[in-house]
Amino acid sequence: MGRTVLILGTGGTIAGVSATPDDHVGYRAGALGVEALAQALPELSGLPLSFEQLASIDSKDMDFVTWQRLATRIQQAVTDEATEAVVITHGTDTLEETAYLLHRVLDTPKPVILTAAMRPASSRSPDGPQNLLDAITLARSAGVHGVLVSLHGKVHAADRVRKVHTYRVDAFDSPDGGPLAFVENGCVRSLAPWPTPSGLGIKRLMRSPWPRIEFLTNCVDADGALVPLLQELAEREARPLGLVVAGTGNGTLSTALEAALMRAQSQGVAVLRCSRCAAGPVLGGELPSAGSLSAPQARVELLLQLL
Ligand code: SIN
Repeated sequence: MGRTVLILGTGGTIAGVSATPDDHVGYRAGALGVEALAQALPELSGLPLSFEQLASIDSKDMDFVTWQRLATRIQQAVTDEATEAVVITHGTDTLEETAYLLHRVLDTPKPVILTAAMRPASSRSPDGPQNLLDAITLARSAGVHGVLVSLHGKVHAADRVRKVHTYRVDAFDSPDGGPLAFVENGCVRSLAPWPTPSGLGIKRLMRSPWPRIEFLTNCVDADGALVPLLQELAEREARPLGLVVAGTGNGTLSTALEAALMRAQSQGVAVLRCSRCAAGPVLGGELPSAGSLSAPQARVELLLQLL
């Protein structure tokens, strides 16, 4: 028996159940255990897999405590000689944040693959079984490493992946550069080098208190009035404050919002600027740029900077 692939369940639509096979929106996410999902795949029988249910949540409710537990468990597992790789089943809604967090904190040469589904397990044509099978294929393929997101036959880098559609099964993309690989008919076709996790370490996730990181967006008549209110709130909570601002176009901000953020920055608030556009980096400008990270990923980046 070879080394084991650990399959960690966290919930999501992939484990969702609805009242009727045609209902793709009115279901309960995270209703089934991860082992039950794998049992529906005869192709997996006899493979060295182990299963753990870390959480059973709709990923819109993912929280910092669950992130601490998830990152800790994965780091522990990949440090164990007996583990070949880890596959995580997750909801699609916050998958790009969890993937980016793991990419930044884990320290491992082994593959850590996140997968999910857009249709519940009870659907007439669920996408979860194929996605889970592909994720396990990827995890067991020679030479694969890094934190990767595998859905709908595409493999994405954790720092570029974005959820780009609200309900279609092909809901994920890497708009700035494309996928790293495809999983086709049980084989991995690689298009680009596999990434290496940054290895910041999971210890920083144990620090307390966690900073308050809030989102702001530039838009017509953005006046920055929320900035001092958020500063007051963070002061009352005695938590460091970080502000991620999604600018227009190349991260541009209204004069008033920029002034409010510059003032806050000079008073010790950490600011990171990304774009409300669906793709492309933020170049130049006075306030720090998050490069081509999405707003949710920029929030994770700022969180890690402040922890
Ligand atoms: C969730 O994110 O847990 C629900 C939505 C989904 O998985 O597609």
